[in-house]
Amino acid sequence: MKKYWWQKSVVYQIYPKSFKDSNGDGIGDINGITEKLEYLKKLGIDVIWLSPIYESPDVDNGYDISDYRKIRADYGTMSDFLVMLSRAHELGIKVIMDLVVNHTSDQHPWFLESEKGRDSAKRDYYIWKDPVNGKEPNNWGSCFAGPAWQYDENSGQYYLHLFAREQPDLNWDNANVRKDIYSMMRWWLDKGIDGFRMDVISLISKEPGLPDGKAGFNGYAPFTSCAHGPHVHEFLREMNDEVLSKYNKLMTVGECCAATLEEAPKYANSDGSELSMIFQFQHMSLDNDPETGSKWTIRKINIVELKRVLSSWQEKLYGKAWNSLFWNNHDQPRIVSRLGNDGKYREKSAKMLGTCLHMMQGTPYIYQGEELGMTNMRFDSPEDFRDIDSINGYREILDKKLMEPGEAFRAVCYKSRDNARTPMQWDNSENSGFTTAAPWIGVNPNYLEINAEEELKRKDSVFYYYQKLIALRKQYEVIVYGKYQLLDPENPDTYMYTRTLGDEKIICICNFTEKSCNVSIPDEYVRPSKILISNTDQIQIEKDLVHLGPYDAFVLYRSE
Ligand code: NOJ
Repeated sequence: MKKYWWQKSVVYQIYPKSFKDSNGDGIGDINGITEKLEYLKKLGIDVIWLSPIYESPDVDNGYDISDYRKIRADYGTMSDFLVMLSRAHELGIKVIMDLVVNHTSDQHPWFLESEKGRDSAKRDYYIWKDPVNGKEPNNWGSCFAGPAWQYDENSGQYYLHLFAREQPDLNWDNANVRKDIYSMMRWWLDKGIDGFRMDVISLISKEPGLPDGKAGFNGYAPFTSCAHGPHVHEFLREMNDEVLSKYNKLMTVGECCAATLEEAPKYANSDGSELSMIFQFQHMSLDNDPETGSKWTIRKINIVELKRVLSSWQEKLYGKAWNSLFWNNHDQPRIVSRLGNDGKYREKSAKMLGTCLHMMQGTPYIYQGEELGMTNMRFDSPEDFRDIDSINGYREILDKKLMEPGEAFRAVCYKSRDNARTPMQWDNSENSGFTTAAPWIGVNPNYLEINAEEELKRKDSVFYYYQKLIALRKQYEVIVYGKYQLLDPENPDTYMYTRTLGDEKIICICNFTEKSCNVSIPDEYVRPSKILISNTDQIQIEKDLVHLGPYDAFVLYRSE
């Protein structure tokens, strides 16, 4: 398998709106990011993935772009961006941008032209259809509740929007759309950025005829029904030929909703024909409702299932394609509240989760605040939500009486994307050191205890643990290239696996519960050469039995 620089790298995702406000308007900005580059350098990450910073009406926090070539005024200017980019490069940090090209904002000039009428020059830039029997052209639902179609009185047609109605889907079958997108990509790459994270890229090619999908919990076919359409790989290869292959050492990651083990190796083939790696969500949907598929539940992820899913990705992509590893991003609740324990064992479980993920094969992604063990927010009422997905989802559940109101509120609080979007907790001053003004979204009140300043002072903090996890990947090739093997698959409490590369071997052992237990390990690890990392100083190995305390995690290393 070909080797690439990004296989040894760790990515840090910045959600600019909530990272650091430098000018006191309550909204994070680019100069705020520049201020904090030293912090990221200290953590040891290699790449920043920047969520969208382009001009946008902000219906979906910047994932609705009205000008791909302009920086949104709230975030600063192009020259601020170029300063940030060159400062990052000086520190040896690369920067990849979010590429959101399944859809634009309805305020993008292409759409403003397209909606003028059936004969508009840009009509075919978007997906317009006549009504069928006086209704929507098919049964597809929007990701953010309701139908994926918006009726336009003026022309008597509907347009497709897999996300908000203000996010019309581009028509990738139109060669001019693709040409315009490729030229915009080259424009950014010529400014020196290091690659792209591609938003919902598995959705860009729609099946001709737009057939109905299988209806889900709210009566509509889920927005992912159209994933991996007939031309998606052809389009990505074309993008590769026209753009990506013309630049040196880029990194690209495709957000591939509904990715399957069959499709993944095409998107992220190590021959470099499409993208560097794939972001997939199977492990993140394990707490969806099993009958309806709805994500609005308060179920817990089953550890046996989690191991089965993550292991299948480790095994099936090995030697063929490249995984991304993540627990968090701006669309997911905080992992320590979801799979760990955000009370008594917050730090310990945050470190355990980090260990479990970072010892696998793939490129790890750390989402801002994860390195501090930041937790879910406490929302007091539905008015606290800012996210369109949470607001619409909650309303739909109530309107359609899918749950009783108390349960609906609890489920939306638990899964809301806003959990990840509360401001970064820098210190214990007012508003967590994020801003001097009223922040655009509430700060998690636990910033008084959980914040970067406090963790940087304390050597046993989650921050320094993550720093060590990142450093280990650079020191041990076995973490990057070793073959993965799951042990004890049916154990409902622990996650244990090995990685092997030549004579180098590691075993990663994690307790996902607050109960103590014993696990048996293969003989060869009984007398390890070293302990690579551990969140406990009480490791007890007796014969082949390892004793695990609550949320214990450790990694043993041996070489022949
Ligand atoms: C995926 C992004 O991660 C999410 O935040 C956004 O709402 C949708 N795509 C639409 O762009």
